[in-house]
Amino acid sequence: MPTVLMIVGSLRKQSFNRQLAQFAAHALAGRANVSVLDWRDVPVFNQDEEFPNPESVASARTAVADADALWIVTPEYNHGMPGPLKNLLDWLSRPAEDGSPSPLFGKTMTMSGAGGANCVRDSFATLLPVLEFMKMRFAPATFTGVAVSREMFISDTLELDDAAKSAIEHQADALIGMVDER
Ligand SMILES: Cc1cc2nc3c(=O)[nH]c(=O)nc-3n(C[C@H](O)[C@H](O)[C@H](O)COP(=O)(O)O)c2cc1C
Repeated sequence: MPTVLMIVGSLRKQSFNRQLAQFAAHALAGRANVSVLDWRDVPVFNQDEEFPNPESVASARTAVADADALWIVTPEYNHGMPGPLKNLLDWLSRPAEDGSPSPLFGKTMTMSGAGGANCVRDSFATLLPVLEFMKMRFAPATFTGVAVSREMFISDTLELDDAAKSAIEHQADALIGMVDER
């Protein structure tokens, strides 16, 4: 069974994006082993302290390298991707001390997100050139952006309508299809 690693762009415990990742995991059930990357201890990148990699970075590198595909699920902060997520990608973009390349390079992936009325459009827009620069391979499905309603913000519980559910299912199908092709 292939492995899919979820990278949630919010570290908030009750994160809507963490909840959206659970919907995505559900859509992949029976077709992939799904796990969620724990990257909360990854420090702010400092090239002076790059090697040896901090333990949290080394384990994130291994988890990404071992995954057949990644699914980034992220909010939008100030009309761009969250700074902490960019920091994580900067760490992962680097070669290891032994010279082995970035585990992101050429990785199959897709992305989704939950946020305000903008449906995380600008988060996707700032992520895209970064991911393309890393030669990541996008599954052939539209990225799903979900708007969190006022009621959901109050209850801290994400609910998906039928359109969002089927968009996530379509992404899951496309991701698995691409992994199976390889
Ligand atoms: C620093 C910050 C900036 C934000 N900027 C935006 C934004 O530009 N667009 C938007 O739709 N939501 C924005 N939001 C609201 C987030 O979409 C909302 O807090 C969302 O719940 C965060 O995702 P999470 O629940 O996974 O933590 C911002 C939130 C924070 C904390």
